[in-house]
Amino acid sequence: MVSNGESITSTSEDGSFSLEINPEVDRHVFVTVPGGFRADTGFSKEVVDLASGPGLLEFELEPFAPSGSRHFTFAHITDTHVGLKGGTTTPPDRLQNDLAAVMDDSSPDLVVASGDLTQWGNPDQLRAVATAAEILSCPWFPMFGGHDGNYERLSGTTAEEMAEMKRTGAWEKIRALTSDLPDESFTHNFEQLFGPPYYSFDWSEWHFVLFPNEAFFSSTDEKRKGQWLWSDIGHQPDGRAVAVVVHIPPSSEFLDRLEQAGVKLVLHGHWHSSKVMPWGAMTVAAAPPLCFGGLDTSPRGYHRIDFEGSTFQLERRVLSFRGIHINRDAGPGLRWECKLPGHTHRAAPVRCGKSILASIQNPRFPGASGVACVDDVTGSMTWLLETENVISNRVAIDQTGTRGVAVSLTGSVIVFKTASGSVIWTAKLPNHPFRWLHPPPLIVGDQVIAGGRAGYGCWDLQGGTEIWYHKLGEEDKWPSFSGPVAWEELLILAMGDGLEAIDLRTGERIWHRPINISQRFSSPVLVGDRVVHGGDWNKLSSRSEEPAGLVVLDAATGEEIWNRNILEAGYATGLTANKELIFASTPHGEVQAYDIESSELCWRYATGDSRLDVIPYMRDGSCLLADPVVKNGEVMISGCDGVVVVLDAKTGSVRQSIELGSGITSPVCPLDDGFCVATFDGHLFRFGQI
Ligand SMILES: [Fe+2]
Repeated sequence: MVSNGESITSTSEDGSFSLEINPEVDRHVFVTVPGGFRADTGFSKEVVDLASGPGLLEFELEPFAPSGSRHFTFAHITDTHVGLKGGTTTPPDRLQNDLAAVMDDSSPDLVVASGDLTQWGNPDQLRAVATAAEILSCPWFPMFGGHDGNYERLSGTTAEEMAEMKRTGAWEKIRALTSDLPDESFTHNFEQLFGPPYYSFDWSEWHFVLFPNEAFFSSTDEKRKGQWLWSDIGHQPDGRAVAVVVHIPPSSEFLDRLEQAGVKLVLHGHWHSSKVMPWGAMTVAAAPPLCFGGLDTSPRGYHRIDFEGSTFQLERRVLSFRGIHINRDAGPGLRWECKLPGHTHRAAPVRCGKSILASIQNPRFPGASGVACVDDVTGSMTWLLETENVISNRVAIDQTGTRGVAVSLTGSVIVFKTASGSVIWTAKLPNHPFRWLHPPPLIVGDQVIAGGRAGYGCWDLQGGTEIWYHKLGEEDKWPSFSGPVAWEELLILAMGDGLEAIDLRTGERIWHRPINISQRFSSPVLVGDRVVHGGDWNKLSSRSEEPAGLVVLDAATGEEIWNRNILEAGYATGLTANKELIFASTPHGEVQAYDIESSELCWRYATGDSRLDVIPYMRDGSCLLADPVVKNGEVMISGCDGVVVVLDAKTGSVRQSIELGSGITSPVCPLDDGFCVATFDGHLFRFGQI
């Protein structure tokens, strides 16, 4: 197939074709390279290079065995955000190392990058990406994402100038730059280096379409792009499997149309998060960023997809696993260790009678995810509740210990019997499966509460009847693990612009306390009739230069008892408290203890180098995600450095340290006679008294 960016024509038997060119709107003529071939001299030509009037245009194809093979390995990378000045951007040499790491890890036959290759889209950034990609020993297919057009869109304003305008509050100037945009496409810099911003190619039995879907195109180009897409898919012969790569999460309408057109696989980035879900007969998969931690605190990595004929198996690969070894003699108190059938991310293990319930995320798709039940005596798995999508956070158990509830990332509420894992009832939150739900659910008396930043629902535990739904927004933007806490008849939760309390019975708002909070904060913590939470945040990428806020509120009224910028970090990733102290985990790997009355910093403890890169936009160094756990005058920290540390709560002095050898991103589960803890790679450890 050959296209001018709008119409598509097929070559005849002898390879010739005829295509009308309109230099006013056509910028490229490009071919869809068939499987088993490659276009070494390029798959596209610029229209400006063509002689005016009818002419001859040739594309040279040569045999290329890898793209003809029924079995091939595909690496989906995304959101590399290359910049030349560091900060939260990716230096080019780092991208090069990460691409080399992908080659080492999977030996892919091809790499597809689904947009936001650069931070700002300056020509030098784009060039740096192209140069870094030269390290790949297989073909790679870059696609335009919104960040790759910012420089053009903002009339040459650099990222640094924009940051300075924001810092100095030059909002008028920013408004002038960002409103009133001309009806133009902002993809020219990208096109200079990489050719057409949308294109397709065949690989064995698959047809891959790269289709940037952000509003960076003029109205004319947008229309042409749409026409090209449906024509491109429509040209595919029966039996050819089609995969479409976009940048931003696709809408349900778009997915419906793709599915009707027979598309099997949709890949995207943008959200800097991991999610794989079925949509009818299609699979829709969002990969985490390649070069730094995801906004959902996914470890940096990529998706490896193994194709066999028209079928495939997808796997989330973690690039930042460091120093993996499981120490089976992990301390004198180890009773047992159980390998869970998936990763354990932010979900703490939960005790339920003589069992431990662990929420697991299978990195493979198709693959079973859900809730695993492990016998606390033997350490063996007794049942696995398979759910329609991953369970991102811990389960909640009712007072009798007979029923539990799990919430899927996509928005299913699953109430199950804790004895067997059999499902009692399920419900779907509004906008399922487009939810991104990381907060843990709650059971309060006979009510189940589940949801996230777009809103929470409440159901009757027994029958699953919905009691109320409290809408907070249109979507769960951005990923957050902060969940609700119950205090008397109130449900207290964080939302976009502060904390609020809603009536447990009706879902109506009782109080609202505006605070400039971040979605990256942990859940509110109750201490008697007080609520402890993160306060106004500063630069989220800060590694402790400017203190961020902590607040203590009256639970009944939301009145501030104190609100001070004391936290020596950009924000708190985890939080807990007792009657004397607030314990905050920080993104740079510390636990800091503050006096709950005076707000004075009493002690701090630094964890070691992280074995995973899980902090948004960050990598390397130390980091901590799990809430500290306080029990009997001790604080337990489960660190990304793979160590569980028991500290004296009053002084912060170390009482015990257990090296597990693999990064831990979930809190410890304290038990009457010890504790259990799960490493990210899915090993559950049970310790007795230590
Ligand atoms: Fe991005």
